[in-house]
Amino acid sequence: MARDLIIVGNWKMYKTSREAAHFIEQLLPKIEGCKARVFLAVPYTSISTAAAAARLAKVEVGAQNMNDARDGAFTGEIAALMLKEAGASFVLLGHSERRRVFGESDTFIHRKVVRALQDDLLPVLCVGETLEEREGGQTEEILKKQIDSALVDLPEEKIGELILAYEPVWAIGTGKIATPEIAQETHAFCRKCLGDLLGKRKAGQIPILYGGSVKPENVGSLVSQKDIDGVLVGGASLDPESFAEIIQQCEGI
Ligand code: 13P
Repeated sequence: MARDLIIVGNWKMYKTSREAAHFIEQLLPKIEGCKARVFLAVPYTSISTAAAAARLAKVEVGAQNMNDARDGAFTGEIAALMLKEAGASFVLLGHSERRRVFGESDTFIHRKVVRALQDDLLPVLCVGETLEEREGGQTEEILKKQIDSALVDLPEEKIGELILAYEPVWAIGTGKIATPEIAQETHAFCRKCLGDLLGKRKAGQIPILYGGSVKPENVGSLVSQKDIDGVLVGGASLDPESFAEIIQQCEGI
């Protein structure tokens, strides 16, 4: 089953909109003609500027979070339709920083996935275990719980329209990275969970990305694995040079 190669930059809480526009201006000539799908998850305030700057390129711009409600009295929150109108085409949901720092629950994340699908934003669902959980032999149990709870009871016709990102919490921002073998084994397990829940055919269509300390030097050995369809990049996506290099490395596989 041929799946798209997808490279997502997650800027987290970095870059003003002026910096975002400058980044995109520098990035585009470096990735001209590349075939991979390139996504940038930018801060809310940069979405419209980034979307305008990336308009003629294949770069898609998205958000890093959203609320599950259509609208309402939720001070400080943001809705899918607002993101869409600003120029977002996708949204990261369930990132470990949202789960751990901001206490987001599996049920809240599930409601957000449903809302994103309803309002035509492509959800990129992030899952991953902590070091303690991996060392305690709980990785599969944790991933299954995160996947099952987020993706249960989705509208049938929308099921294929999502991306899964496996990000081991112990690899995020630490410089530690899962070996390609461990990453492949875990991705294959995630695909099995998708198959049990959504059916084998749909599971074969859903791209699964790896995230956690991805750099130009290690990306090639990751994306050459059978079940790794791309990467979700934090720190190395902040510099157009290193992000472009990651994209070029992936293209060379
Ligand atoms: P780093 O690439 O900085 O480890 O961050 C990964 C991440 O959290 C992407 O969502």
